[in-house]
Amino acid sequence: PELFHPERENSKGFDLTHRPTLAEIDAARAPFRSAPWQAGPITAVEAPLGATETVPNPADPSDEVGQITWASPETVAAAAEAAQPWQASPSDRAAALLKAADLYEAHYGEIFAMLHREAGKTQLDAVAELREAVDFLRYYAERAEGAPPRGVFACISPWNFPLAIFTGQIAAALATGNAVLAKPAEQTPLIAWRAVQLLHEAGVPREALQLLPGAGDVGAALTSNSRVSGVAFTGSTETAQIIHRSIAEHLDPGTPLIAETGGLNAMIVDSTALPEQAIRAIVESAFQSAGQRCSALRCLYVQEDIAPHFIEMLEGAMEALRPGQPWELSTDLGPVIDAEAHDGIHAYVEAARAEGRLMKQIDVPRAGHFIGPALVRVGGIEDLEREIFGPVLHLATFKADALDKVIDAINATGYGLTFGLQTRIDDRVQHVTERVEAGNLYVNRNQIGAIVGSQPFGGEGLSGTGPKAGGPLYCDRFRRHAASEAPG
Ligand code: NAD
Ligand code: ALA
Repeated sequence: PELFHPERENSKGFDLTHRPTLAEIDAARAPFRSAPWQAGPITAVEAPLGATETVPNPADPSDEVGQITWASPETVAAAAEAAQPWQASPSDRAAALLKAADLYEAHYGEIFAMLHREAGKTQLDAVAELREAVDFLRYYAERAEGAPPRGVFACISPWNFPLAIFTGQIAAALATGNAVLAKPAEQTPLIAWRAVQLLHEAGVPREALQLLPGAGDVGAALTSNSRVSGVAFTGSTETAQIIHRSIAEHLDPGTPLIAETGGLNAMIVDSTALPEQAIRAIVESAFQSAGQRCSALRCLYVQEDIAPHFIEMLEGAMEALRPGQPWELSTDLGPVIDAEAHDGIHAYVEAARAEGRLMKQIDVPRAGHFIGPALVRVGGIEDLEREIFGPVLHLATFKADALDKVIDAINATGYGLTFGLQTRIDDRVQHVTERVEAGNLYVNRNQIGAIVGSQPFGGEGLSGTGPKAGGPLYCDRFRRHAASEAPG
C-alpha cells in the first residue's frame, strides 16, 4: 500500500504563538474549568455496574474532575454478548469516522479541559493530542475498504495518550467493520467516555462500540472472553505479556494481539553535534509530557570530548523548564499521572541521590503529583533495569572509538522503540541507523512524536508487535485474511 497520499492533509491544530488563537482557546475551555463530568460504562444492553469513584486532578488535589462508575467483569460479559460487528458499508463507516473527527474538533474546548484536568496535559500536549486523534480517525477512515472484519476487538489503552491512542485503536477496528469493546486506562476514563459519546453521535452504532471503564480486572475479563477475536493493546511490556498468556489460554489460537509497549530509548550525541540543537532535542525528548511518553529519551550518551561543557549547557536548559498547572500556557512541565507513579519515581530518584548519582533536579510545586526533572549518571544503558515512566534522564559518556559498543549495549536491552542521533557526519548517520534496532529513528531532532500517515509509529522486540500505528499496514491486522482462515 502507498504510504503517502499527496491529497491527504492532517489536522492543522492550533498555533499557540498566535494571540487571537489563544484567546479563542481560553474562551472555549472556560466553561469546563471546574465543571465535573459524570461518566460510566456505555453498553448496548443494560448491564450490571461496578462502584462509583471520584476522578482526581493529578496537578491539583482540590479539583474533583468528575465521577466515574466502573464496569465490572459482569458488565464485560453482557457487553461482549451484545457486541455486533458494524454492518454498514465501508463508505458509511468512513463517513461516520470523518464526522467524529469533525465533532472532536468542534468540542476542542471541552477536550482540552479534560486533557488538562484528568491527564495533566499541558496546552502544547493537549493540542498535539487532539490533532493526532483526529488524524487517526481520518486516516483509518480512508482505509475502510478491504477484507472482512475479524469480529469483536478488545481495545485496551494507556493513560498517557488518553484520547489519541484510545481513539486510534478504536478507529482502526471500526473502520474495518469490527465491533469494539473499549477499555481505557483507569486513570483517564472521563475523556474516553466523552470520545465514545462523540463517536456515537457521529453515527457509530452502540452494538459496534461499547465503553468499559475499569482497571486490570476488566481488561482481564475482556482478554479471556470467548467472543473476542482480536486484541489491540498499548501499555507496558509486562501487561502485554499477561495479555499474551491470557489469549493463549482462553481464546482461539489465531487471535491477533497488536501490542505497542514500553521502551528504554537512547540518544547518542557525538562531538560534531550542534550543541544548541542537541540540547533542545534532549530536553523535549526527556521532559516534555513530564517524560510520560513511551518514546521519551531515557538514556543519553554524550561523547566524552564534549561532555563537561555539554552537561553544563544541559543543566542550564533544565533550569529554564517551568513546572506548573497544565491549564496555563507558560507551563512546560505538568504532573505525573497519580500518587503511585509519583511515589515510585520519587523513590527511584532518591535512591540515585543516596548513591551520589543524581547530577541535577529541578524544584517543583509541592501540591499535586509533580516530580522535578532529574538527571542521573549511569555507566551505560545496561544500568537501567526498567522503564522509569517520568521526567528522569540518565546520562552516560562514551569514548570516540566505543561507538559500536554503545550501539551493542542499546540493542542488548531487548527493547526497540525510539532512538535519537545528533551528529553532523553523514556516514555516521548511516552507520548508526543501520545498526540500531529501533522502530523509530530520529536524526538531529527530538525523538518524541510521530505524524499519522507520514511517520508511522511502533517498536520492535520488547517494544511491540507492529504493525506501526498511523501507517498503511495497521488496519490489515484488524481484518480476516484468507491465510489465517485456512484450516489446520
Ligand atoms: P499499563 O500496562 O499499566 O496499562 C495499560 C492498560 O492495560 C490499562 O488500560 C490497564 O488497565 C490495562 N491492564 C492492566 N492489567 C491488565 C490485564 N491483566 N489484562 C488486560 N488489561 C490490563 O500501562 P500504563 O501505565 O497505562 O501506560 C504506560 C505504559 O504504556 C508505558 O510502559 C509506556 O511505554 C507504554 N506506552 C507505549 C506506547 C507505544 O506506542 N509503544 C504508547 C503509550 C504508552
Ligand atoms: N506517538 C506517541 C509519542 O510520541 C506514542 O510518544
